Amino acid sequence: MEKILNYLESSRESFLTQLYELLRIPSVSALPEHSSDIRKAVEWVAARLSRLGFEAKVYETSGHPLVFAQWTKNPDKPTVLFYGHVDVQPVDPVEEWQSPPFEPTVRDGNLYCRGASDDKGQLYTHIAAVEAWLATSGSLPVNVKFLIESEEEIGSPSLPAWIREHRELLTADVVVISDTAQFAPDYPSLCTGLRGIASFEIEVRTAEADLHSGSFGGAVPNAIQVLTRIISQLHDASGRVNIPGFYDDVLEPSDEEKDSWKLLPFNEHEFVKSAGVKATWGEPDRTIFERIWTRPTLEIVGIAGGYQGKGHKGIVPARALAKGSARLVPKQDPSHVLRVIGNRLRELAPSYADVEFRCGHGTPAVSIPTNSAWVRAARSALEKGFGKSPVFIREGGSISIVTTFVRDLQLPCLLLGFGLPDDRIHSPNEKFSLRDFERGMRTSAILLNEITSHRTGT
Ligand code: BES
Ligand code: MN
Ligand code: MN
Repeated sequence: MEKILNYLESSRESFLTQLYELLRIPSVSALPEHSSDIRKAVEWVAARLSRLGFEAKVYETSGHPLVFAQWTKNPDKPTVLFYGHVDVQPVDPVEEWQSPPFEPTVRDGNLYCRGASDDKGQLYTHIAAVEAWLATSGSLPVNVKFLIESEEEIGSPSLPAWIREHRELLTADVVVISDTAQFAPDYPSLCTGLRGIASFEIEVRTAEADLHSGSFGGAVPNAIQVLTRIISQLHDASGRVNIPGFYDDVLEPSDEEKDSWKLLPFNEHEFVKSAGVKATWGEPDRTIFERIWTRPTLEIVGIAGGYQGKGHKGIVPARALAKGSARLVPKQDPSHVLRVIGNRLRELAPSYADVEFRCGHGTPAVSIPTNSAWVRAARSALEKGFGKSPVFIREGGSISIVTTFVRDLQLPCLLLGFGLPDDRIHSPNEKFSLRDFERGMRTSAILLNEITSHRTGT
């Protein structure tokens, strides 16, 4: 292991140079004008893995492409499947970035760039780890496959079908993903649960066209007011979702799990500060961990309607639109949740408005059992890589395809988070700590070794 760790240390600059190349590609999956950049990022990964000796290929899907690569020269050893994503979130508001969003910039030991933490920097730790093994020993201690996609940030719409058609490629013993965060700085973390998500849109129409607010205002309904009245009734004043059936099936965490979270350092004041809010909000009888990790939520994420241009316009808007999503927890069914939301919206719709409810994509939550040999291997790798034993946490975010790995492929998954809660993923000035980049590379390299020795007794 010594030689491998030394290699990682002495190649630090070259790894950064490589990662910068990937980071400079503005691979925003949500924006159609970036589809050629998405392809460039996928091809970049394929080329990188080919050069390391992997059999790597870019595959087309019904959406954006992906890369699948493998090195399987150890027939009697376990197979590790690394999953990650090269697509990133849009950068706006771009004026809030202190350095250009796609120009990797180091300040105070942090690497700033869109995708630095989510997920290019984190997935690169896996690439660096295999490079270190191959460069120093000419071989890997296990078989390794990479599945790197480019639609994660839009809910991985094409990947489940691709996986069904290429199931044989994905035979593996364990999936390793670094796309989550540490609990706090110097708290290496194994994530045991991701929330699911179900998204939707509500469109309200009250007239054929906008009307003059002097000639009609006060005597005709206003679409924006109808919409906001509806959405204001989706929660009660305390923050609980006020929709019949919304909390059906919610699985409460065990007392043991809740007790283990009591040992995590948590300061509500710090939490409020790090979020940049004035106060916490949400279900009053729930801790912050519960609110984020084990309770479902309903959020309105965007709203549009009426006049948004300069100055003022005297209209009664005819149309208004809201986008929303629910974060889901174990045992909740996305289609059930969408159904009860839709039912409630229709109930709240006044007779003088057309209210249309459109369902978006849905992914159930996942939970990862902690009593496996894989988890023991990951614990010991994190312990050696970070010099501190890891904690078990959950995340409130979602990684859609993990559900497919767990449910359809029945693969154990390891979620090793190298990021930090204040990495500002999805926000301006996203960063990744260089120290965590290094510790992530070390941990990934050690993990391959730990998995060989933890093989029996799964
Ligand atoms: N890496 C995140 C998931 C995540 C978020 C992990 C927060 C830990 C903390 C991932 O790239 C992501 O953003 N997922 C989306 C999925 C959605 C588009 C279906 C999310 O959670 O919103
Ligand atoms: Mn991610
Ligand atoms: Mn993301």
